[in-house]
Amino acid sequence: MRIQSLVGLLGLASFATASIHVPNYDNEDYYVLHIAPTSSPLDIAATLGLTHKGQLGELKDHHIFSTHKQEEDVVSIELKARRRRKRDAGSSDILDSVKWSQKQQLKARLEKRGPLPPPPAGYYPLKPREDDAPVAVAVQRQDLVARTLGISDPIFKEQWHLMNTVQVGHDVNVADIWMQGITGFNSTVAMVDDGLDMYSDDLKDNYFAKGSWDFNDNTAEPKPRLSDDKHGTRCAGEVSAVKNNVCGVGVAYDSKIAGIRILSKLITDADEATALNYAYQDNQIYSCSWGPPDDGRSMDAPGILIKKAMLNAVQNGRGGKGSIYVFASGNGAEKGDNCNFDGYTNSIYSITVGAVDRKGLHPYYSEKCSAQLVVTYSSGSGDAIHTTDVGTNACYAGHGGTSAAAPLAAGIFALVLQIRPDLSWRDMQYLVMQTAKPINLDNGEWQTTTIGRKFSHTFGYGKIDTNATVEAAKTFKNVKPQAWFYSPWIHVNQDIPQGTEGLAVSYDVTQAMLSAANLERLEHVTVTMNVNHGRRGDLSVELTSPDGIVSHLAATRRLDDSAEGYQDWTFMSVVHWGEKGVGKWTVILKDTLVNEHNGTFVDFHLKLWGESIDASNAVPLPMINEHDDDNHAEIVSTTTIVGFTQAITPLPTAISLSGNPTDHPDRPVNAKPTGTTVADMSSSTSTAAPVSETSKVSWLPSFFPTFGVSNKTQIWIYGAAGLIFAFCASLGIYLFMARRKRLRNNPRDEWEFDLIEGEEADALTGARGAAAGKKRGNRRAGELYDAFAAGTDDEESETEGYADEGGDEAEKKLYDEDEEQHVIGDESDYEDIDEKAGRRPVK
Ligand SMILES: *[C@@H]1O[C@H](CO)[C@@H](O)[C@H](O)[C@H]1NC(C)=O
Ligand SMILES: *[C@@H]1O[C@H](CO)[C@@H](O)[C@H](O)[C@H]1NC(C)=O
Ligand SMILES: *[C@@H]1O[C@H](CO)[C@@H](O)[C@H](O)[C@H]1NC(C)=O
Repeated sequence: MRIQSLVGLLGLASFATASIHVPNYDNEDYYVLHIAPTSSPLDIAATLGLTHKGQLGELKDHHIFSTHKQEEDVVSIELKARRRRKRDAGSSDILDSVKWSQKQQLKARLEKRGPLPPPPAGYYPLKPREDDAPVAVAVQRQDLVARTLGISDPIFKEQWHLMNTVQVGHDVNVADIWMQGITGFNSTVAMVDDGLDMYSDDLKDNYFAKGSWDFNDNTAEPKPRLSDDKHGTRCAGEVSAVKNNVCGVGVAYDSKIAGIRILSKLITDADEATALNYAYQDNQIYSCSWGPPDDGRSMDAPGILIKKAMLNAVQNGRGGKGSIYVFASGNGAEKGDNCNFDGYTNSIYSITVGAVDRKGLHPYYSEKCSAQLVVTYSSGSGDAIHTTDVGTNACYAGHGGTSAAAPLAAGIFALVLQIRPDLSWRDMQYLVMQTAKPINLDNGEWQTTTIGRKFSHTFGYGKIDTNATVEAAKTFKNVKPQAWFYSPWIHVNQDIPQGTEGLAVSYDVTQAMLSAANLERLEHVTVTMNVNHGRRGDLSVELTSPDGIVSHLAATRRLDDSAEGYQDWTFMSVVHWGEKGVGKWTVILKDTLVNEHNGTFVDFHLKLWGESIDASNAVPLPMINEHDDDNHAEIVSTTTIVGFTQAITPLPTAISLSGNPTDHPDRPVNAKPTGTTVADMSSSTSTAAPVSETSKVSWLPSFFPTFGVSNKTQIWIYGAAGLIFAFCASLGIYLFMARRKRLRNNPRDEWEFDLIEGEEADALTGARGAAAGKKRGNRRAGELYDAFAAGTDDEESETEGYADEGGDEAEKKLYDEDEEQHVIGDESDYEDIDEKAGRRPVK
């Protein structure tokens, strides 16, 4: 077998191999144990009566053990018993070196992002493409490129995503890059999917066997074996279909393509962790067109082992440059889903790619979120992606969904790595962010970020332009290593007002804190939250940075009627890229619907990630720990928090009602029309009502944050603004006084809960948005209720396992109702590690 030969070859003890074990799930149970580096897994196996199967993939100090199948989690039981005995006797025990264990469970949580939900009625009336005549000059160029490069693939001219001769400009703009000989040589992409037909005449010459493995059937060849194992092959064709006389070409047609098969049977977290690190010195890019169900109600993150594998990959994969993970944003937009409810797409270690169609429109399925970096072409407007299919010489003309967008991006990144294999995983994200091309700029949902880039929750930083990305890659200067700053847990414990009111909680980050954290400028921002709520889909969350840039961390989801709330859920944003991070960060949590489902904002934890100040002082992030988010003990003491209403006047420029000019000194006065004034409506005053009557459109967050405002509407708003302004100005003054009074009674800490009002207003977005938000909110609320009512009838119980963070949690619910995650050792053992990881702020 593969493993033995590798062991023999390297002459290593079995526990030192980084190979994979071949499981036998019918007869055996498997456990993963995290053990101290000094301890012997063989001794631990002997003590527990288990068989040691080897190290878990590439994860140091994590080992797989097996035993015969039985109902109980025997390891947990034994570890608990010993811990009890130890407490009584005070003696030491070999099992003290076991830091954590997890019985592996087979589970089906990952879905391909291929099959699309049916489009909503009347959506994109399909206009036959033949109606659109090709543009002659574009056809000539296509002929020239094909002739020059020797492309005679029969469906090349159908591959509009490579060269679009009808909607000219709506393609990945790769031709000039190919003409320079940049076609993916020396680059390797792994399709993590349902298989890859390595015997297809269109793929076999580029197939990379060494990077491939079948984790479903436990063999070296990840061949499609089920009748619907076609997704991975179609995705692979987009990347690496060979330039020959079969079908079309991949965007990186000289790249190598590996197959890692995980989607065709149930797998465990251990399998998935191993798969995502498989051959990670050779596989450079992992293309992942799957994830938790895009059903508008799942909220599921990878389990701890998978998270560890991803961190391990960015630190140690690709010779330490970091594996590049590309994830499809998800196909659940029509169901109100959002890619921040998916722990893969909202990981800082993945590049999340959404879809745009051949007319440059947002396809109904492609999910939005603040974690989406970029989009590229896929199905919609009556056409789809034309690619290779399973079979010796089979093509497919109907590949689509965000499933088809992610591999296209992965292929483009393979072109980048041909000329710049030295780029780190973060360099790649910078490059993509900096060179994406904004599209559909007039739809009103773009905001200009601090560094002058445009961001939309629908399109991320825009669509990938291969020419721009690869050209910029040629001279890209590597960024310094990563640094991070974690706020303490901020303890809120306040009821969330319903309706358009929300809770605004602020935390002030000082330059001293960031200097101490060696953090120069931001890349990713994450917010981990705990919220108890009777109906999760009613909630929305915004994050406003000191520069006034807004991330819609969570949007309401009409189908999400989970009562689980947010349990240590981490939202992510790429919107604040390039900001300094110094100043007031505000989290605004809203319970948007007035109904019987209420809730409490428990606490949150802000993390700023970015480039270090001093590279020589930078250290890699310590391996994440089973307890990283458990340490709520260091919560900052609470203080009063007040509800506020986002009753906002739309104003063309940022106007501070309270006129405190020093509050945001570096904010440009001619700010984008998102400059905001937010009137404080503390204690649920009735003043919200008149504003709502005069508001007409939505821009802001309450319900569907990315809904755009047309130009006409904006003009209307600005007209209405005058009227509302007079009202709000007087209200603002009144409330300012009220606040002054209140503040005198409320001692502050270095952080604060605060009202959002005039003087802070310009730190928030969307004057017009919020005003507008009310009206749309009302309208949407009706729809939401309708949808909800309709949804309850056919509601299944399938959400139950997906409510919490992490496979661990889901698993716990599904399989292990009574058991706690069994972690051995004192809590204090972990706190040290947490401290190191934490870079606590200067107090
Ligand atoms: C592939 O990599 C090798 C070794 O790094 C290099 O010499 C060669 O020029 C590369 N080929 C291309 C086409 O980039
Ligand atoms: C490709 O990028 C270069 C450098 O930015 C630019 O000069 C050229 O016009 C671009 N070509 C296309 C086809 O976009
Ligand atoms: C909802 O409100 C009721 C009554 O005020 C309260 O008892 C309950 O704890 C609240 N639920 C949550 C999740 O805060």
